[in-house]
Amino acid sequence: MKEKYYITTPIYYPSDNLHIGHTYTTVAADTLKKFKIVQGYDAYLVTGSDEHGQKIEEKAKQNNVEPKKYVDRIVKDIKELWDMLEVSYDKFIRTTDKDHEKVVQKIFNKLYKQGDIYKSNYEGWYCTPCESFWTESQLVDGKCPDCGREVQLTKEEAYFFKLSKYKDRIIQLYKDNPEFLQPESRKNEMLNNFLNEGLEDLSVTRSSFDWGVKVPFDPKHVVYVWIDALSCYITALGYGKDNDENFKKYWPADVHLVGKEIVRFHTIIWPALLMALGLELPKRVFGHGWILFDDDKMSKSKGNVIYPEPIIELYGIDAFRYFLLREFSFGQDGSFTREKFLQRLNSDLANDLGNLVSRTVTMVEKYNGGILPNAAKKQEMDDSLIEIAINAKSKVEKYMDELNFSQALEEIWKVVRRTNKYIDETTPWILAKEDDNERLDTVLYNLTESIRIIAILINPFMEKTSKEILKQIGISNKINWKDSQEWGKIQPNTKVKKGKVLFPRLDVKKELEKLENANQKLIEARVKKLAKEEEYITIDDFDKIDFKVAEIIEVKQHPNADKLLVFKLKVGDETRQVVSGIREYYSPEDLIGKKVVIVANLKPIKLRGEESKGMILAAEKDGKLTLVSTLEDIESGAIIS
Ligand code: ME8
Ligand code: MG
Repeated sequence: MKEKYYITTPIYYPSDNLHIGHTYTTVAADTLKKFKIVQGYDAYLVTGSDEHGQKIEEKAKQNNVEPKKYVDRIVKDIKELWDMLEVSYDKFIRTTDKDHEKVVQKIFNKLYKQGDIYKSNYEGWYCTPCESFWTESQLVDGKCPDCGREVQLTKEEAYFFKLSKYKDRIIQLYKDNPEFLQPESRKNEMLNNFLNEGLEDLSVTRSSFDWGVKVPFDPKHVVYVWIDALSCYITALGYGKDNDENFKKYWPADVHLVGKEIVRFHTIIWPALLMALGLELPKRVFGHGWILFDDDKMSKSKGNVIYPEPIIELYGIDAFRYFLLREFSFGQDGSFTREKFLQRLNSDLANDLGNLVSRTVTMVEKYNGGILPNAAKKQEMDDSLIEIAINAKSKVEKYMDELNFSQALEEIWKVVRRTNKYIDETTPWILAKEDDNERLDTVLYNLTESIRIIAILINPFMEKTSKEILKQIGISNKINWKDSQEWGKIQPNTKVKKGKVLFPRLDVKKELEKLENANQKLIEARVKKLAKEEEYITIDDFDKIDFKVAEIIEVKQHPNADKLLVFKLKVGDETRQVVSGIREYYSPEDLIGKKVVIVANLKPIKLRGEESKGMILAAEKDGKLTLVSTLEDIESGAIIS
């Protein structure tokens, strides 16, 4: 039976503004999953959305929609983004899933009954964007120590979780399991800033709003979002439900991947909760660094948001995923720039990998009619190529065990660069001129064999590229990871055929402009889409519209448009001209003297050369049209409100 491997990403806050930084955790988690699968594990990946809490309730209010409606739309977009990135999650859990909510209530009940949760009063500070509680002394210059934003003084009756009780066990956990919290530097942060200071009990309910899971025995309280969200890691597997097979199979988590700002919740609150529930603890929590934009964790307010979609559309998922994992050291912060992306695309992907494949395949076609020859004439210089190629797998595996994606990829690129160098060393074009066919054959074979190994090694990172390379060198079998450490697997006589260019070389300057434009367009499209989606207008919006009763005093055919009529309208003392498209339904003489309703303050425009000042309202259904009028006769100029 396959060994299980359970990976999670955080449970994301629904946001219209998912940017490149957000895709980082998901891309890493998905790559790790794909890596574990090629290694033969039964890997399971959970992601989801963290939809309750004050922050979301406030946002929904600002948008004039019910919180559930608000999150439904965004969650759909988030799923679309993960699909676009080909993230192969096994379960997408929403904190608004009814069965999840029920289990959260069950958990709360259990902890209350066993005395781990008790009722008291909370008095302290709350950071809504971070959804976190702070004591006076923890604040930095009176602001949230995590995000630097304003905090609110909060006084409410609340239930508390006895977090303090678990302090020593958590410190012991760090000592006994060096893997539990990584990188090492984050462990010291937790110890120095929180644990060694003495851990206070945690308020685990809120009562000043109600968008959340209700406390079952005291429904004016809702469960604190972090308790709700962290529970997803087990409810996603069916914990607390009749069908908890997945929970039995996959728990404990092998790794929770999270950004560094939420390590605290995952390595203090979460293990304490699990201890209280008597459940096994996750084996590892890894806090990755931030992707910075102009040295800032990207925020929309700063106007520097960079969306992943234009990059993926222009250069493909593989280039995008490669860049994220290769450019940044997983544990550390790093700056994103489009220049860096394009340069790496040119150097690593177009020059190194793309060129290697196309040169090799072209040579097999040119010198041997596209048939892979035999390696009959080995030379000593071949050994160093072979050695680097077949030893790469174990190095890549070692780095992936450390979640060092960047170095794992670097090990593969050592093979890529070494193989390119092998072409320069062996100069196949000279061998061809010298008619040294046996040696030429051997060189061609070795090049192709090295490419086969590279294609297998990159598979979990760049699936499409891997498959395309294998196709070009005539291999259609399912990928077998172990074959990447063996030399001589590809059969002579295999048909090799040049395919599409893997990564075309780019003109950085031109592409920069293209990318910036595409990003800008997307920002504008999103703003428009959101505006359209707003379901209600407020009374203030309505007040902006000036509806009036108008009398039709003259009607003419529009001189330049068959379907339009030109009206003279009397609106109180004023006469004005309005162009309308009701020609098909009414003949002009029927309309004289009729009272209609118009929008009087519509911005005047010229329609096919005739000025139009206002709009005549009409009702239409299934091709039938009638002008809107008033029930009783009323003088023109009457205001409609
Ligand atoms: O924190 N660079 O959700 P979230 C790198 N709901 N990673 C970034 C990033 C950046 N610039 N910006 C965001 C939450 N992320 C909670 C989690 S889990 C029980 C509850 C990462 O939507 C961030 O670090 O704010 C986190 O890993 C993920 O995006 C989701 O963040
Ligand atoms: Mg966040």
